[in-house]
Amino acid sequence: MSTLERYMKILITGGSGFIGSHLVARYQGRAEIVVLDNLRTGKRENLAGFDCQFVEGSILDVKILDQVMSGVDLVFHLAALVSVAESMEQPLETVALNVTGLLNVLEAARRHGARKLVFASSAAVYGENPTQPKVETQTPDPRSPYAVTKLDGEYYCAIYERQGWLSTACLRFFNVFGPRQDPASAYAAAVAAFLDKARRGETMSIHGDGGQTRDFIHVADIASALAFVGEHPEATGVFNAGYGNAITILELAEKIRDAVGSSSALEFSPPRLGDIRHSTSDPSRLFSLGWKPTYDVVSGIANLVAAKN
Ligand SMILES: NC(=O)c1ccc[n+]([C@@H]2O[C@H](COP(=O)([O-])OP(=O)(O)OC[C@H]3O[C@@H](n4cnc5c(N)ncnc54)[C@H](O)[C@@H]3O)[C@@H](O)[C@H]2O)c1
Repeated sequence: MSTLERYMKILITGGSGFIGSHLVARYQGRAEIVVLDNLRTGKRENLAGFDCQFVEGSILDVKILDQVMSGVDLVFHLAALVSVAESMEQPLETVALNVTGLLNVLEAARRHGARKLVFASSAAVYGENPTQPKVETQTPDPRSPYAVTKLDGEYYCAIYERQGWLSTACLRFFNVFGPRQDPASAYAAAVAAFLDKARRGETMSIHGDGGQTRDFIHVADIASALAFVGEHPEATGVFNAGYGNAITILELAEKIRDAVGSSSALEFSPPRLGDIRHSTSDPSRLFSLGWKPTYDVVSGIANLVAAKN
């Protein structure tokens, strides 16, 4: 049972992105929703049909942050430069958006007396550490500017929490999939890219031998985990957000092809530089607070295939 009984006002930075739009969907009728997004990678149409106030602007603009933060109880900070590959090309921009941007949002939340901020971190912070499954206490090994900024963000959130300036929680998302994920993006996640190819009956291309494993989690469960930690005062610190089940990329491609009923061929292309071999979460810290996912990877794929977007 949520501890937030009263109607609240929430701010979602990056709310017109893939994950943010599912959080907007989740809070329909439950909260007054403000979205701050500069549409860097997000899309206005992701919010079509949803009741929310959309403000086009940047987390680097302190004046806009003061406007949108007024009266806000709960902040979900999702706005970021989201691509590992782009972060390798643009480390300074990555730090500006992902570190200075987060600090701007933390400071505005503190100034305006918000109750809590939930930060979208990433399993990328684990990097090459070979230990499986990944537990929150293991030594991080970030290998890209993107991963470093997510780890920095967690440390800043911990300072605000420890100093009593603002309650914070960080979720390390594993591989998120679901409706509205962009298959056209140069960095399309495996699920969106495979689904697009399977639907067109085109060859599905797998990097390497397909034996690499990932912990895929449906975006509706990520939205529910964000809301859960936001609404539970005892949920502070860092939490893995995954199902705790690994699936190989080859199995994933086959499951998507079967779910679509497609006859797409599978081909193997050279492995991607820097791709880690295995990544599975230990989500027991989040589960022990009482959060439960709705899907697993198989039912999640079935939901995605059935969804109209
Ligand atoms: N998708 C995943 O598998 C995954 C995994 C780990 C972490 N994350 C994190 O989750 C969050 C959401 O990611 P997503 O997959 O929905 O990506 P996304 O690109 O769809 O969403 C990011 C949003 O942030 C917005 N944005 C970028 N710069 C901004 C700025 N200066 N001011 C305001 N808005 C800005 C973009 O326009 C976009 O709408 C990100 O912080 C990302 O790092 C995602």
